[in-house]
Amino acid sequence: MAAGQTILTVKSKYAIFLTLGIEPGGEDRVRDTLEGLSGRVRSVGSRNPDARLTVVTGIGSDAWDRLFAGARPKLLRPFKGYVGEVHTAPATPGDILLHIKAQTMDVCYEVGQLLTADFGDSVRTIEEIHGFRYFDLRDLTGFVDGTENPEGQAAVDTIQVDPADDPAFAGGSYITVQRYETDMAKWNGLTVEQQENVFGRSKSENVEMDDDVKPVNAHIAVNQVNDAEGNQLQIVRDNMPYGDASGTGVKGTYYIAYSKTPDVTDTMLEKMFIGDPPGNYDALLDFTTAVTGCEFFAPCADFLDALPPAPATTPAPPAEPAPAAPVRPADGSLGIGSLRRR
Ligand code: HEM
Repeated sequence: MAAGQTILTVKSKYAIFLTLGIEPGGEDRVRDTLEGLSGRVRSVGSRNPDARLTVVTGIGSDAWDRLFAGARPKLLRPFKGYVGEVHTAPATPGDILLHIKAQTMDVCYEVGQLLTADFGDSVRTIEEIHGFRYFDLRDLTGFVDGTENPEGQAAVDTIQVDPADDPAFAGGSYITVQRYETDMAKWNGLTVEQQENVFGRSKSENVEMDDDVKPVNAHIAVNQVNDAEGNQLQIVRDNMPYGDASGTGVKGTYYIAYSKTPDVTDTMLEKMFIGDPPGNYDALLDFTTAVTGCEFFAPCADFLDALPPAPATTPAPPAEPAPAAPVRPADGSLGIGSLRRR
């Protein structure tokens, strides 16, 4: 199996999340830049090896067909968007995602500015978010984020497409991103005990609550997703806090998840925004709002170094960004009957 991109790293101290849109006619220059990307990363990374610079490149569904002829990753599709009774997860535009991370910001910045110069006017920057590690891997809410991520071989098995499922893209990963804006004044208005009930873990010691006291709408209760045999389905999250220090400035969490299938993340999002049963939405959403949402595929490193041919005719880019579409089936069910709680 071809080697995947370097996704699993020690937790970085800094990250830049760059979402780009491909301009009409920009496809050839985008292809050239993608083929030169690993060289750029090696060259900047070698200037400060201790910083452990990595860049993961994701390609969106519409962009894939504009850039490459031939096979496409089987499960690559635009982010669906979710409309619950109270909270909404919008689908927003994005053709290319660069997840740049390192132990120092200088190399992140350097490779970001070199790569965007390589892309030139073939792309427009839709969003650039600078994330930072907050103390001992805490979110701005003060809770440790990432504790229950799978590790070692389990993490590899969680994020890499299985050859049996999609031989042409084995080793690649699906990526879901959402930027959340957190209402810190509202959050800080809660007692610590109330905050712990929102996540289902203790704040200071980061211990999971027992099932008999954990609220059913706690964040970690809602995000339990099992298959028909009762096995827990997982994703690898690499979220980072971002934002302005000033009280009135925008701040929150940049959510990013890697998985061998986008279905697991989508099921979690359905449970968070719509609820299972409907109405049991994630308590965290009363304090933080999803403002973006995109899905991408990160192909293997070899794929990017030697791209398949371009399509003979370039499909037209979508005229308008896809609006957030409700995913609730007409019968009002969640459509996830085969999944059950742990
Ligand atoms: C503002 C956005 C978010 C914040 C601040 C946040 C924060 C946290 C925190 C503090 C934990 C507990 C510790 C841990 O295991 O990491 C957690 C767990 C988790 N979160 Fe989130 N999260 C956010 C969004 C999401 C989203 C959008 C998803 C999925 C679509 C998700 C999936 C999970 C999962 C699967 C767990 C582990 C559950 C378990 O097995 O215990 N999170 N999150």
